[in-house]
Order: sequence, then structure tokens, then C-alpha cells
Amino acid sequence: MEKVIHMKNVSWICNGRHILRNINWEVNPGEHWAIIGLNGSGKTTLLNMINGYLWPSTGEISVLDKRFGDCDVRELRKSTGWVSSSLQERLYTTETAEEIVLSGKFATIGLYDRPDKKDIKHARIIMEQLGCAHLAKQLYGTLSQGEKQRVLIARALMSSPKILILDEPCTALDIFAREQLLSTLEHIDRMDSKPTLIYVSHHIEEIVPVFKHTLLLRRGEMHSAGKTKSILTKTNLSDFFETLVNVEWRNGRPWIRLFT
Ligand SMILES: Nc1ncnc2c1ncn2[C@@H]1O[C@H](COP(=O)(O)OP(=O)(O)O)[C@@H](O)[C@H]1O
Ligand SMILES: [Mg+2]
Repeated sequence: MEKVIHMKNVSWICNGRHILRNINWEVNPGEHWAIIGLNGSGKTTLLNMINGYLWPSTGEISVLDKRFGDCDVRELRKSTGWVSSSLQERLYTTETAEEIVLSGKFATIGLYDRPDKKDIKHARIIMEQLGCAHLAKQLYGTLSQGEKQRVLIARALMSSPKILILDEPCTALDIFAREQLLSTLEHIDRMDSKPTLIYVSHHIEEIVPVFKHTLLLRRGEMHSAGKTKSILTKTNLSDFFETLVNVEWRNGRPWIRLFT
């Protein structure tokens, strides 16, 4: 595989308004990316393009070396896992955590096909790796937000995706649940068949060390993109936020403070 994601001059115009403008972005195999932008900056729109839910108004996209327009996006979608808080609400609450994870194999909401022993074993292994095996028999609806998110990540991993997209997965999590979720990303990075992680947030401090690359999105435009260490500098972030900020690195994690 040459490129995991390749966007060339991609724009999305809706009702005469540029929601995304001139995005040029490449994700190489083995890279994990964080996408940072304020609310409404176009992050989810950008993710919807990777999955083929939205078509660019202008420009070209290829995902896993398949060019949109020349391939079946439904097939491509099977290679992409997606975790977001909107998915969390759509799932059945009366199924057990294990059933929710198993349903990821068929990419369905609800478990229609009977899983075989191999699937159940696979689900168990993933749940153990993500620290949620003890929740297997608990009803999904009774899980805490943090537990739900980990179950959803396990569900997404059931189909062995090549790309795992996480759209603000830490929303509504307390700081402990957030740190636990972020550490599961480190576990995923150590898996044999690890997917490329695309992690979207508006919190800089959620950029854990696995994310060696960062894209800053502002008002639908790519402000800057590249190696995390060179993007998250005081100068670049102050320019991005249009206000003076300070960046402190602690244990490989960036923390920002506003100068008021
Ligand atoms: N389907 C749509 N139709 C019209 N406007 C949209 C649509 N989807 C998103 N937008 C607008 O595009 C902008 C970016 O939205 P979004 O990508 O959801 O931002 P983010 O995820 O960064 O918060 C917002 O102003 C939003 O209102
Ligand atoms: Mg969003």
C-alpha cells in the first residue's frame, strides 16, 4: 500500500458555503494522526469524506490506494472502523457488551447472524486487550460512558479494519475514563494488525505519543499539518488559535495554557 489516505485540493461546498477548502493531506502506512480543530471547523465533515459518506465538490480522494469514483465505497467502508458518540446512542441497550462487540464483525446494529466459536474467542481477546472483558455479560445500556466507548472500540476492531476513526471519543468522559481510553490507543498501536488511527478532538492534551502526526483544521482550511512536535509549538498554536498560548510537554503529552 502506498498511501492510507490521499486528498488533493479537496473542497466541500454546501449551499454556496465552503465547509472544507483546498485540503491537501497524505497519511502514510504506519502513521497515526490527530486532527484538531474548534467546534464547527469541519472535522466530522472531513471524516465523512474518508468514509465516502460525502463526496468532495472539487478535488480528489483516495483511501487505501482506491480512488473515489473508481471503486465501490461500500467495500472500502468495510476496511474502516468508526467510533463516535452518535454511534453510541444508536446501539441497542438490551444487548450485552459481548453481543455489541460481536456485531462489529457483521457491521450491523443488532446481532442478526450467529457468531461461531472463533468469533467469540476473537471478541474475547479484543475485549481483554482493551480492558473490558469483565463487562462481557453486562447489558450495554447499563455501562458507564467510558466503558461504552471501550466496548465500541472493541466492536470496531472485530472486523480488523485498516483505518480506525475516532471522532471525539472522550466527549462526556471524566478525566480518569479519558486517560483509560487514551491508554487503550497505546495498546492498539502494539497490536500485530494495527489499524491506522485517525483521532479527532478539540483538546490538544488528548494527543498521546502514538500520534506522531497532527493536522490543525481552522474554518474548513488546513492551517498546518506534519510532525506533532513541529506543529504543536507555542508559535504555531498561537497563530492557529489567534491568541497567545503556551505549550508545556509533560511525559510526551502537550498541555496548553492561555495567556489572559
Ligand atoms: N450536511 C450539512 N449541511 C450543511 N452544513 C453542514 C453539514 N454538515 C456540516 N455542516 C456545517 O459545516 C461546518 C463544519 O461542521 P463539522 O464538520 O460537523 O464540524 P466539527 O466536527 O469540526 O465540529 C459547521 O458549520 C456545520 O454547520
Ligand atoms: Mg464533529
